[in-house]
Amino acid sequence: MPAPATISIIVPCYRERPNVRPLVAALDAALAGRAWEVVFVDDDSPDGTSDEIRALAAIDPRVRGLRRIGRRGLSSAVIEGVLSSSAPLVAVMDGDLQHDETRLPIMLDAVAADDCDIAVGSRHVAGGDAAGLSSAWRHRLSAGGIRLAQLLLPGRSGLPPLGDPMSGFFACRQRFFEQAAPRLSGEGFKILLDLMLSAPRAPRVIEVPARFRPRLAGESKLDLLVLAQFGTMLLDKACRGLLPVRFIGFAGVGLAGVLVNLAVLDVARRFGAGFETAQILGTLVAMGVNFWLNNSLTYRDRRLRGRRLGAGLALFMLVCGVGAVANVGIARALHQQHHSWQPASAAGAAVGVVWNYAVSSTLIWRLR
Ligand code: GDD
Ligand code: MN
Repeated sequence: MPAPATISIIVPCYRERPNVRPLVAALDAALAGRAWEVVFVDDDSPDGTSDEIRALAAIDPRVRGLRRIGRRGLSSAVIEGVLSSSAPLVAVMDGDLQHDETRLPIMLDAVAADDCDIAVGSRHVAGGDAAGLSSAWRHRLSAGGIRLAQLLLPGRSGLPPLGDPMSGFFACRQRFFEQAAPRLSGEGFKILLDLMLSAPRAPRVIEVPARFRPRLAGESKLDLLVLAQFGTMLLDKACRGLLPVRFIGFAGVGLAGVLVNLAVLDVARRFGAGFETAQILGTLVAMGVNFWLNNSLTYRDRRLRGRRLGAGLALFMLVCGVGAVANVGIARALHQQHHSWQPASAAGAAVGVVWNYAVSSTLIWRLR
């Protein structure tokens, strides 16, 4: 029986087929003499990344693959990969060869020697560099993110200042990660920052200089929505997990819906529609827009497609209709008792949005 791995390298990947084999070869060279395994976590990539991983796993027992269906996300992929590991040490790195694997021994040894809880491959300490970022605006974006993160980091239970909190390249004990796991937000790309903000105690961190290489094959998956998820993750941490971030998103979308409703009402009235007709039209359009926004933003990770889309929209309208009836009923009852209409109206709206959120989360965008 081969010796069990003492090191798991966790690699989130999406559409990285051409990078799988070169990455395993690079790990083989960098980790020679160590008992390691690599766990690729692929979100059902359409380019056959998982087939490539399986083909390699068939001839190399150090290669494992985890394939997730119906879900997306770098951070959540990393979480599931680390939790699948039974090795005492884990390292997280990208699957596109941008992270410099030759730094892994130093990072892993620092954790093994208990010099730190987390060893970060850092672009922003002497000897590291970020030359591989693809454009000037990626450099600016990265710098902005770092500033935002540093605003949040110190002061929160004495977290250490970090040169590169945006890094996605780090090593730690599996146990350490597992203890933080229930509190991780799992949103977006920034799993290291998430981990630092979720650890039960302030982690001891060492930064190892690392070069961020340019991408040779495939393309970056960072887009506007990933940026929005970064904001969501920071918000979640700032609320200390007390208020579900999804609820904040849902309520925000609801607010946008009110504006859409008003705008349509206005246009319809200009075209001579009566108030009631205009309001019904406004409400229907707002529901449609809200459904679309929730489907592509709030519940992006559980997005409905194809046939489910139509059924979801119908159910959403039904649920919101019931929510609207509850909203008006409660507002009316409160108004009759207390005669002041703003608090009554606000209470009605609050009950409506909580109802819509609760039913949407459990019935429409439920976990499959
Ligand atoms: N499973 C899975 N699901 N993997 C994903 C997903 C996803 O939805 N999105 C991206 N990945 C994988 C990519 O395939 C790649 O292996 C890795 O996560 C990083 O994604 P890129 O799209 O290449 O990200 P980047 O190069 O823009 O950003 C990277 O560099 C940052 C430094 O600025 C990330 O590693 C960041 O974590 C890192 O901090
Ligand atoms: Mn990349």
